[in-house]
Amino acid sequence: MKFFVDSAETEEIQAAKRLGLADGVTTNPTIILKSGRGFETVIREIAALIDGPVAAEPVCSSADEIIREGRLIASWAENVSVKIPLTRDGLEAVRVLSGEGISTTMTLIFSPAQALLAAKAGASFICPFVGRLDDVSHSGMDLIAEIVALFSNYPGIDTEVIVASVRGPAHVIESAMAGADGVTVPYTVLEQLMRHPLTDAGIEKFLSDWNKIAP
Ligand code: G3P
Repeated sequence: MKFFVDSAETEEIQAAKRLGLADGVTTNPTIILKSGRGFETVIREIAALIDGPVAAEPVCSSADEIIREGRLIASWAENVSVKIPLTRDGLEAVRVLSGEGISTTMTLIFSPAQALLAAKAGASFICPFVGRLDDVSHSGMDLIAEIVALFSNYPGIDTEVIVASVRGPAHVIESAMAGADGVTVPYTVLEQLMRHPLTDAGIEKFLSDWNKIAP
């Protein structure tokens, strides 16, 4: 399963890369804002750091604008994937951009119907949001299972399901169990995935016993 780091912080992306956990990077306007740096600067820098896709989201609403911005963003680096919200104009834009060979990521997906339309438009990746569905008392993971099952009925679909709005290790493991192609993970979740209280306790005990061994 692919791990896309959900961050625009260079240090976090480098740390994930050293662990072999940066198959790609996803950003959105909120993540770029948090970085305190400019959109183009950040995307160019991240794209040079990793080999995999870097999802970059222009903020515009008409299909024509999305297409224009998408072409521009895609020209910044070969591994940029233009991230576009699932709207009617977004679908039109993805159809054009993917027809030109530009990688696209459809985001803010909350239903199997939206996932199917994104695949039909030729999106390279889709990002269904599990955490935000859980927040409103719907099961985010049920959505992932439905999309994976739906796509598996049509071997011609090569759109990858990259689970987004991941809030903790359970979302990662359940995405893997459901057969998702990947997850977008905040760096804090990567750290949580590595840790287990019994591992910490075991290390502490070994260390204390080691110090008691006679030289
Ligand atoms: O990849 C999308 C993600 O950044 C959204 O996460 O926690 O704001 O729902 P969240």
